[in-house]
Amino acid sequence: DMGGHDTYMHKEISEQPEAVDRVLRGRIDDRFSTVHLGGLNLDAREARGIRRVKILGCGTSYHAGQIGAQMIEELARIPADAEPASEFRYRDPVVDPDTLYVAVSQSGETYDVLAAVQELKRKGARVLGVVNVVGSAIARETDGGVYVHAGPEVCVVSTKCFTNTVVAFGLLALHLGRIRDLSVADGKRIIEGLRKLPAQITEILKTEDEIKALAEQYTDAKSMLFIGRVRGYPVAREASLKLKEVSYIHAEAYPASELKHGPLALIEPAMPTVAIVPDDDLLEKNRAALEEIKARSGKILAVAHQIQEKADHTIVVPKNEDELDPILMGIPLQLFAYHTALALGRDIDKPRNLAKSVTVE
Ligand code: F6R
Repeated sequence: DMGGHDTYMHKEISEQPEAVDRVLRGRIDDRFSTVHLGGLNLDAREARGIRRVKILGCGTSYHAGQIGAQMIEELARIPADAEPASEFRYRDPVVDPDTLYVAVSQSGETYDVLAAVQELKRKGARVLGVVNVVGSAIARETDGGVYVHAGPEVCVVSTKCFTNTVVAFGLLALHLGRIRDLSVADGKRIIEGLRKLPAQITEILKTEDEIKALAEQYTDAKSMLFIGRVRGYPVAREASLKLKEVSYIHAEAYPASELKHGPLALIEPAMPTVAIVPDDDLLEKNRAALEEIKARSGKILAVAHQIQEKADHTIVVPKNEDELDPILMGIPLQLFAYHTALALGRDIDKPRNLAKSVTVE
C-alpha cells in the first residue's frame, strides 16, 4: 500500500519525520543527558575499554556507517572508521580484542555483512549490529546492537533507513561519549539537536516543489560530481549513489579537498557539481572549492545553510548541531535523485539490475 504516493521511494522519503521520531522514542534520558540502548549488551567498563571502532556494511549502509564513524570520533573521541564489509572480509583482517566491531544492515540479510560477522566471531571479536529488520540473520548473529526502527522499506533504494541508521549511530556515539568524556552540556546539546530532527525534516520535505524544479534542470547531465569535506563527504557519497541508482546518470563523489588532485580536469559546463556546504568550521574551505569550480565554468548546486553566491542554485536546509547536520543534508538530495529519475521516466522502485537484499556473494 503506497498510501497515496506514486512510488514506495516517495512514500519512504516522506515518512522520515515519523521514522526518526521512532528511533529516538524511549531512548533519551534527560536526567543524565544520555541515551539508553536496551539491546546493546555493553557495560560501562567494556565501553571504557574500547580503543577503536570498526564499522562494516555495504552500499548505503556503509555510507551511513561512515557518518557514524565520524560521530563516534567527535562525540566519544574513539578512533573509528567504516569499510565495505566484503573488502574487510577478503583481506584476512587482523582482529583486535580492544576494537568494537559494528555491522550495519537494513535487511539484516546481506551476505557479505553476515559473512564478516561470522568471521569476526570465529576470531573472538565483539560485534554489535545496527540493523533495521528485527530478528534478521545479522541481528541474531551479533552480540547486541541498536535497532534502527525505520519500519519496512520496500523501494530497492534505501532512503528512510539510511537516515534512521545515521540517527541510530548518533545515539550510539552519544551513549559512548557520555560513558567516556563527553560533558553533560554537550550531551544536552546533542539531545536537543536530536529532538529537533523530525520537525526539521518536515521543513525540508516542504521544499519538494523547489527541488523538483531544480532536478528537472539537471536531467541532461551525462555525469555529475558530488563533493563534501569531512562530515559532508559521506553525504556526498550517498547522494551520488542515490542519483546513479535511480536515474542511471553517472555520478562520482570526491572529498572537496581532492579536487585539485585530479577531478578539476573534468569541470566544464556540461559536468555539474553538487556541493555539500555546511555552516561549520570548514565553510570557508568549501567556499574556496566552489570558487575553483566556478572559475572553470562548472555549474554548481549547493546544499547549504545559507545561499552560496558562487553556486548556480542553493538548497537551503535548517541548521542543527554541527555533528548532526549530515543527517539533514542528505534528505533534499534523496528528493533530487527521485525527481531526476521521475523526469527521465525510470522504474524508480525497481532500478534495473538491482535487488533489495543481496544474499549472495
Ligand atoms: C542503495 C542500497 C544498497 C544497500 C546495500 C546493503 O540504495 O539500497 O546499496 O544499502 O545492498 O543492504 P543492507 O543495508 O540491507 O545490508
